[in-house]
Amino acid sequence: MAETQDIRLVDLDEDGVDRAFRADVLAGLRQADKAVPARWFYDDEGSELFEEITRLPEYYPTRAEREILESRGNEFAELIGPGRAVVEFGSGSSVKTPLLLRAIDPGAYVPLDIAGDFLRAAAADLSAKFPGLPVYPVEADFTKKVTLPDAVRDIPKLGFFPGSTIGNMVPPTAVDLLRSMRATLGEGSQLLIGMDLVKDRKILTAAYDDAAGVTARFNLNLVHRINRELDGTIPAEKLRHKAVWNDTFSRVEMHLEALEDIGFTVSGVDFAMRKGETIHTENSHKFRRRSANMLLLAGGWTPVRRWLDGKKRFSLILAEATVPRSAP
Ligand code: TRP
Repeated sequence: MAETQDIRLVDLDEDGVDRAFRADVLAGLRQADKAVPARWFYDDEGSELFEEITRLPEYYPTRAEREILESRGNEFAELIGPGRAVVEFGSGSSVKTPLLLRAIDPGAYVPLDIAGDFLRAAAADLSAKFPGLPVYPVEADFTKKVTLPDAVRDIPKLGFFPGSTIGNMVPPTAVDLLRSMRATLGEGSQLLIGMDLVKDRKILTAAYDDAAGVTARFNLNLVHRINRELDGTIPAEKLRHKAVWNDTFSRVEMHLEALEDIGFTVSGVDFAMRKGETIHTENSHKFRRRSANMLLLAGGWTPVRRWLDGKKRFSLILAEATVPRSAP
């Protein structure tokens, strides 16, 4: 029983409420420093808004990473080789994937995502672009070990984790995830991972607080989702989106700040926020070469090669699964 994968990803109670969502939100709001895990941003509306963020003038990471993917195809082909099954973690709309697939001549493509409808639509799109390529979408929570389709079991894997999504996790969680990826992909696998770099803090915070207010809408969408799905009464108009640089943790933080003292309920539980108090909704850690390498090594991956875009804003790193050995 334990090894079947065909479990429901979403566990609903008798009222159709996602139990994990409610548990996370209630636990997060009960803390002295309120916080909600960022994975709950990505309902269909949140996923669409996120795609919009990637096209904003202030949001450089997507363009910088695309530039690397477009210009380094020959080096990917040489270091990765043909025939690997490309396993993309949190594939979203898979917009960067064709650049990689075109460069390396892969044996299969396995997009993993928790947003099922989004995943299947993107997989169909990609199949149309690459008629000869087997595509096996898997609806899964990739923070745990995922059982991959039988068809790719004996093919060497390349994990693909673009977008500096690893930076959305605190280091202990990031290390757990890297280790899970290693367990999912197996011995001999490689990982191509995007990691955003530390830079001028004005550039960093602007990327998470754009002039058009799309990131603010993305952040506030979480409140609307809580109100809709968890029978909440959070006054969204009394919360303001805020992006701040935290130097100790080397990260941009997104918060929702109360503009005045407010009270509300979620799933029948009462909460209060003081004026100026925040709900912490997202972290985006930024890396230097050494901190990036250290994180990968802690997760069981040895860095092999690192590429930057022309303006040195973003890094893409190829790593390989380190074989555990007894060592001093
Ligand atoms: N991982 C990317 C980043 O941190 C994308 C991302 C995740 C993001 N959540 C976000 C971007 C919220 C803007 C706002 O930059």
